[in-house]
Amino acid sequence: MKLVNIVGARPQFIKAAVISRAINAHNEYNGDSSLRIEEIIVHTGQHYDKNMNHVFFEELEIPEPQYNLGVGSGPHGKMTGAMLEKIETVLVNEKPDCVMVYGDTNTTLAGALAAAKLHMPLAHVEAGLRSFNKKMPEEINRVLTDHISNLLFCPTQTAIDNLTKESIVEGVFWVGDVMYDSFLFNRNLAGKKSKILRDLKLTKGSYALATVHRAENADNIERLKGIFMAFNKIAADHCPLILPVHPRTRPNIEQLNLAPGLNKRLRLIPPLSYLEMINLMSNAKVILTDAGGVQKEAYFAGVPCVTLRKETEWPETLAGGWNRLADTHTKSICDVFNCALASGQRQEEFYFGKGNSGEKTVKIIQSEIV
Ligand code: UD1
Repeated sequence: MKLVNIVGARPQFIKAAVISRAINAHNEYNGDSSLRIEEIIVHTGQHYDKNMNHVFFEELEIPEPQYNLGVGSGPHGKMTGAMLEKIETVLVNEKPDCVMVYGDTNTTLAGALAAAKLHMPLAHVEAGLRSFNKKMPEEINRVLTDHISNLLFCPTQTAIDNLTKESIVEGVFWVGDVMYDSFLFNRNLAGKKSKILRDLKLTKGSYALATVHRAENADNIERLKGIFMAFNKIAADHCPLILPVHPRTRPNIEQLNLAPGLNKRLRLIPPLSYLEMINLMSNAKVILTDAGGVQKEAYFAGVPCVTLRKETEWPETLAGGWNRLADTHTKSICDVFNCALASGQRQEEFYFGKGNSGEKTVKIIQSEIV
């Protein structure tokens, strides 16, 4: 069987690494038999900076993509259209038995459209998530992708319920969360390999960690300002706050021109590698973020999380107050941060599987694609 894996943005490299590893294990187990899966990686080039891209391939030991489409940045339509055209050419040449897409980025939608229009079986990893906010580009991408997928790999029961409400019931599988597989696999490695705590002169539990890159926050100066005022106050009143800055957010921070008034304990640093990020997250006192993946990783790591949005695709993380929605007003972020500081132990119930969702996904692909 030939499987084309389509990736392009940072979180997709992490998810695809889990599937690649599971494919390798499957092939080793099956020797030279006809059950082997040939994996072709297509990189759209949506993320191209070294520390948004190459670092992840190296660290996660993902095989070199056979195709790099070099699409790069641009407005949504232009970017998605360019990807669609180039992916279609690859799929026509490769004639795969299955095309796999991940998550909810423009790369996901372009890959899904290309496959569906060529009548190629389409598998969606991280299917069924909903924020119910159609202003988010990710919501459009995930809803459309789910509706044209043949195999839908859901990380949670909520995701399955969301699909059922939209009458998507065929080809739906609960496999658990591939990011949990990745977290378990890399957590110890991160502790051993990453020197980030030492480099930043931080100790366990002594700092907060934040990320901001969602278009609705990064591109909206008022919201970004609300967030930054809160970060500044937390740094001044509580502890150092470390902010690895996504390239989307950097120019708008500069436009805010806040730098002269910022507390020195608010530390803006370049984007981090996956192992550095896992290490920094696992040792943080509190995490503040608008990213879906980081909310979950905070939950996996047992670190309380303040979400800088009105809603989340991961409602399971809200149970027991482990993750809290603060939106972007300065006061609300500071209040929620204070509640997060007082969090106890994470509740026992765990919703994201057992860390074997990659293996489950590959087994299902093998049995469903004939
Ligand atoms: C994309 C995804 C988002 C995901 C995020 C992970 C969409 C609609 N959004 O958002 O769901 O959470 O990736 O990071 O697909 N840029 C660089 N270098 C890079 C990549 C981006 O400088 O390597 C800059 C460019 O100015 C670009 C901007 O960042 O215009 C935004 O990049 P883009 O890929 O459009 O979206 P992200 O915000 O990264």
